[in-house]
Amino acid sequence: MKKLIVPLILSVAYISMAQQVQSPSKDITLDFALNAAGEPTYKVSYKGKSVVETSKMGISPKDGTSLSKGFSVIDTEQTSEDSTWKPVLGEESTIRDHHNKLTVHLQQKDSKKKMDIVFKVFDEGVAFRYEFPFEKNVEYFIVSEEHTEFDLTGDHKTFWIPGDYDSQEYNYNETKLSEVDNSRLDLNNGIALKTIESQYRVQSPLMMKSSDGLYINIFEAAVNNYPVMHLDLDKAAFKLTANLPPNAIGDKAYLRTPSVTPWRTIMVSDDARDIVASKMILNLNEPSKIEDTSWIKPMKYVGIWWEMHVGKSTWDYAGSQNAQNAGTGNMIPTGKHGATTENTKRYIDFAAKHGFDGVLVEGWNVGWEDWFGNWKEDVFDFTTPYPDFDIEEVSDYAKSKGVKMIMHHETSGSAANYERHLDRAMDVMRKYGYPAVKSGYVGRIIPRGEYHDGQTMVNHFNFVAQRMADNQLMVNSHESTRPTGYHRTYPNYIAAEAARGNEFNAWSDGNLPYHETVLPFTRLLGGPMDYTPGIFEIKMDIYDPSKTQQVHTTLAKQLALYVTMYSPLQMAADLPENYEKHLDAFQFIKDVPADWQTSNYLEAEPGDYLTVVRKDKNSENWYLGAITDENARTTEIKLDFLTSGKKYKATIYQDGKDADWKNNPKSYDIKTQTVTSKSKLKLNLAKGGGAAVSFELLD
Ligand code: NOJ
Ligand code: CA
Repeated sequence: MKKLIVPLILSVAYISMAQQVQSPSKDITLDFALNAAGEPTYKVSYKGKSVVETSKMGISPKDGTSLSKGFSVIDTEQTSEDSTWKPVLGEESTIRDHHNKLTVHLQQKDSKKKMDIVFKVFDEGVAFRYEFPFEKNVEYFIVSEEHTEFDLTGDHKTFWIPGDYDSQEYNYNETKLSEVDNSRLDLNNGIALKTIESQYRVQSPLMMKSSDGLYINIFEAAVNNYPVMHLDLDKAAFKLTANLPPNAIGDKAYLRTPSVTPWRTIMVSDDARDIVASKMILNLNEPSKIEDTSWIKPMKYVGIWWEMHVGKSTWDYAGSQNAQNAGTGNMIPTGKHGATTENTKRYIDFAAKHGFDGVLVEGWNVGWEDWFGNWKEDVFDFTTPYPDFDIEEVSDYAKSKGVKMIMHHETSGSAANYERHLDRAMDVMRKYGYPAVKSGYVGRIIPRGEYHDGQTMVNHFNFVAQRMADNQLMVNSHESTRPTGYHRTYPNYIAAEAARGNEFNAWSDGNLPYHETVLPFTRLLGGPMDYTPGIFEIKMDIYDPSKTQQVHTTLAKQLALYVTMYSPLQMAADLPENYEKHLDAFQFIKDVPADWQTSNYLEAEPGDYLTVVRKDKNSENWYLGAITDENARTTEIKLDFLTSGKKYKATIYQDGKDADWKNNPKSYDIKTQTVTSKSKLKLNLAKGGGAAVSFELLD
């Protein structure tokens, strides 16, 4: 591992109140200054254009003091770092961390309290965080407010979701900053906005585009022991201010010195591809704390899952009227239970036949009669199977077929109950050889009504990842906080949902056709998403003629998502019987890897389109995914990423000539041709469509 740390300026004798640091490319300039009131401020520019105008910083502790004014600079340091590291799983096998760093040591003249602000300036953007050095008199303190501002320069185009402290499962709105409004139900799919007290509060990552062509993204990295950052918008000033979800008594964070906040990040470029390709968020997280990572593996899986979402079967064994009998001998089966031993064996057979690593089974354990509605605190114990699910038989059968079982822990928001049962739940996983768990946190958090995005729950999600790591188990959390790169530190935290997944297409108005072109610029910047692509039966009337729901893409776009939505955990989400009908298209899902040597974003525009090629970690083969929004698109791709002088067999899975997400989503066309690095490939993407291509090295 190459590591180079060069001190540039150390402890200069005269401390200026103003400091400047640039990105290695010199395109980005960060200016720090204390104003006349001793308030820390910063501003950011890109190629001479202002991106963030002079903005204030700091926090308010609960004791009535302030850590946002009255400061002097007592020392500064500037260093430069250029190093590389290897993620266990990822879009790249080697990641470069190249940045210039400025540390400003501040002290308040009156109180003598100290606070450091650390800036890191990368080629893709700026990051900063507050650090609280050890001080006896402020050893423990409570954060009441964070004052970090992002004073933007104009009425940018913005991709935003409402600042709901409990969920990110929204369609993105594409409006001007001045049009952000959580009370407009037309922008929020009619969802009741229970925990959104503010009309103009949005979530981060917030992706924007300025009228002069700058792509700007505001986010955070390494959220640990601190709430998630939401953003309050001052529409008159185009200014965003950090907003932290409180706990039940209004406190934002309990800290003790020494401690640090998460990094606040501002990415900027005139090329949208730089935002999606950036590894800045990962670089801002701590290296892996797991020494032996050999057990952390990418996984492609199928599961007893979509059949419940489309209403073919149920999670519960005995129906909600049997809630009071859950777990007793008095349950009368409804006959629609999905997680039976027999059905599980069917999925195991399918996984084994088609080379999938794992099978997820939801609804295997007692408690689902009461999971959605009454939410008793201890509805689940995570250890007791339903009478028609023989966990031993299922696990033995999976082993005999070379398939791994994926555990499911729906907590129904009862995080305290989950923590109490966690060790026993993990014992079951180890006993039966389940290498990974999908967890879920549907509903308000029990027992204290904490927000999903508050400090307590941030710590819960990270704690579960740590405990799972101790037991060599991988985690995929649903309804958790959105990731901010913590999977660098705990690479067993292989995926999360934390955005609106494909499941919404089964039972709601669904995901807008441009949804998957926004996610790479927002949710995916923090880490892999368990989006669960691969739905071939696009229209739900196949299950019940009265159903009008449908997936808002073509079938070919569902294939492309395996490449455009990076995740080391990928589900083939549709039912085995639906794949059996289209084995030619299914071949792409079987072939596509989930771990990569390198990735190259060829085309990207948030909300419009994205084309990426990735090279398999373990072979010389390449894979391409191209997606578009509601508009059809034609593009020509130069194949100069292929090794020159070599021949490849390209298999192109694309929309049929007459395909369209709404009227003819299942029309696709597959062709093969021999290509070299000199070839060009013309792709025709239908409305809501996409294309997937595999390039297999010949000879
Ligand atoms: C919501 C999750 O996102 C979904 O995947 C799961 O099937 C249900 N909760 C039940 O746990
Ligand atoms: Ca969900």
